[in-house]
Amino acid sequence: MSLPQVLIIDDEADIRALLELTLGRMNIETRSAGDVASAFALLEEYRFDLCLTDMRLPDGDGLDIVRHIEEHYRGLPVAVITAHGSMETAIAALKGGAFDFVCKPLNINELRALVRSALNLSKQAPSDGANAAAKLLGDSQAMKGVRALIERLARGQAPVYITGESGTGKELAARLIHDLGPRAGRPFVAVNCGAIPEQLMESEFFGHKKGSFTGAFGDKDGLFKTASGGTLFLDEVGDLPVPMQVKLLRAIQEKAVRPVGSQQEVAVDVRILSATHKNLHELVRTGAFRQDLYYRLNVIELVIPPLRERAEDIPTLAAHLATKLSTGHPLPLTPQALATLKKYGFPGNVRELENIMERALTLCEGDEIDVADLHLPGQASLHLVEEPVEGPAPFETPSYTGEQSLDEHLAQVERAAIEKALRDTHQNKTAAARELGITFRALRYKLEKLGIE
Ligand SMILES: Nc1ncnc2c1ncn2[C@@H]1O[C@H](COP(=O)(O)OP(=O)(O)OP(=O)(O)O)[C@@H](O)[C@H]1O
Ligand SMILES: [Mg+2]
Repeated sequence: MSLPQVLIIDDEADIRALLELTLGRMNIETRSAGDVASAFALLEEYRFDLCLTDMRLPDGDGLDIVRHIEEHYRGLPVAVITAHGSMETAIAALKGGAFDFVCKPLNINELRALVRSALNLSKQAPSDGANAAAKLLGDSQAMKGVRALIERLARGQAPVYITGESGTGKELAARLIHDLGPRAGRPFVAVNCGAIPEQLMESEFFGHKKGSFTGAFGDKDGLFKTASGGTLFLDEVGDLPVPMQVKLLRAIQEKAVRPVGSQQEVAVDVRILSATHKNLHELVRTGAFRQDLYYRLNVIELVIPPLRERAEDIPTLAAHLATKLSTGHPLPLTPQALATLKKYGFPGNVRELENIMERALTLCEGDEIDVADLHLPGQASLHLVEEPVEGPAPFETPSYTGEQSLDEHLAQVERAAIEKALRDTHQNKTAAARELGITFRALRYKLEKLGIE
C-alpha cells in the first residue's frame, strides 16, 4: 500500500519544515511549494490526497489554490492555514470549497486531527452528486446560488448553520450537504432539539451506562455515537436549554463525549450542521443562547430565502409536487392558478405549497387545478359551498365512549385540537402554538409524540 501524499504550500521555510516533520512522523509523504506557481506545477505532476496551504503567498493567496483545485482536482481536500484572527479569509476559503482551516500559530494536535480526518474522508467513496443535487429544486438565481454553495460546503467539515423561515427547505439542505460530501456513506442523524424532554437530553446526545439513572436498563448509544463518521443535524438548535448548550459546546470542541454514568470520554468524529427558524442572534442578545456555542455553530451561515422572494421557483416546485403527490397522471395547473400562486405570500413556504397542492389534488373535480381549487386563505371561494358553521365551535371534541383508556381519549382530544389549530393557521406552527396557548417547543414535542406531520 502506498503512503498518503500531501502537498504543503507555504512561503516560510520554517513552517514548511515543521509541517514536513509533523506529517512525516504520521507516515505521510510530502512535497512542498513556496508559491502558487510551483504548487500548480506539482499538482499537475503528482497525485495528492490532501493539500495544506498558507493564505498569504508571494504570487497570490490560498484562495487561488482553493479555486484552482475546485476547478481541476475536485475531490482533493484542501485545508488553509490562516493568520490568527482572520476569520473572514477562513470563511471565504470554506465557502470556496476548502475542507477546513487551522490558525497560526499552529497547534500540532489540531493539525494532526485535521490531517487524519481529511485522509480518512478522502478514502471514502465519492458520492453521486448529480442525483442528490436535483432534489433541491428551483431555477431562481437565489436557489442556484444556494445549490452551488451547498456543493462546495459539502466537501468540507466545518459546521454550517442553516437559517430560513419555517418550511423553506432547511432540513433538505442539511441532507444535501451530507449526501454530496465524503461522509455520504455514513449516517445522517437529524435531531429536533425542541422535541427531547429536558431531563433526557444528556443521555439522548451522549448515551448512558446501564443503571446510571432510574430507567436506564442497559447501555445506550447517544446521537453523537450513532452519527459517528457522519453528520449530526441539530434542528431547532435555538430550543436547546442553556445547560445542554454548555455540554454540547464541550463535546464539539473536544470531539469527544462522556456517556451519562461513565468515567470515560469517547472520541467522536461527526460533522455538525444546525438549523433554526428563530433569530439566534437575538437569543444570544437576550441570554437564551450562549454566544460561544453560537460562534462555534455559526462558522458558515447558509441562508435559504423565503419562497415569496423566489416566485420563479413556484411553477417548477408545483409541477414537481403534483407529480409526487398524484398516483396516476398529475393534474396541470391553469395559468391563472399559477399566477395566483406566484402572487401569494407563502408564510409556510415550500411546505405550505406542498399542503396547498395536496388539498387541491384531493378536492379538484375537473382535469385542471384552477384558482378556486387552491383555497388560498382570504380567497373568495366562489365554487365552494361552505358548510354552515354554527357558533364558535373550537374543534370537534371526540366524545368519550369508555371503550378506550382515558389516555387514548385525551390523546385524541389533543390531536383534534392541534389539527384544527394547524388548519386554521395554514400549517404555521408558530401561529398554531399561539392559538393553542402553548409554546412552540411544546407543540413540536406533541406533534412528534402524536405522529402528526
Ligand atoms: N427546493 C425544494 N425542492 C423540493 N422540495 C423542497 C424544496 N424546499 C423544500 N422542499 C420540501 O418542502 C418540505 C419542507 O422542507 P424542510 O422540512 O426541509 O423545511 P424546513 O426549513 O426544515 O422547515 P421547518 O422550519 O418547519 O423545520 C419538505 O417536504 C421538502 O422536501
Ligand atoms: Mg426543519
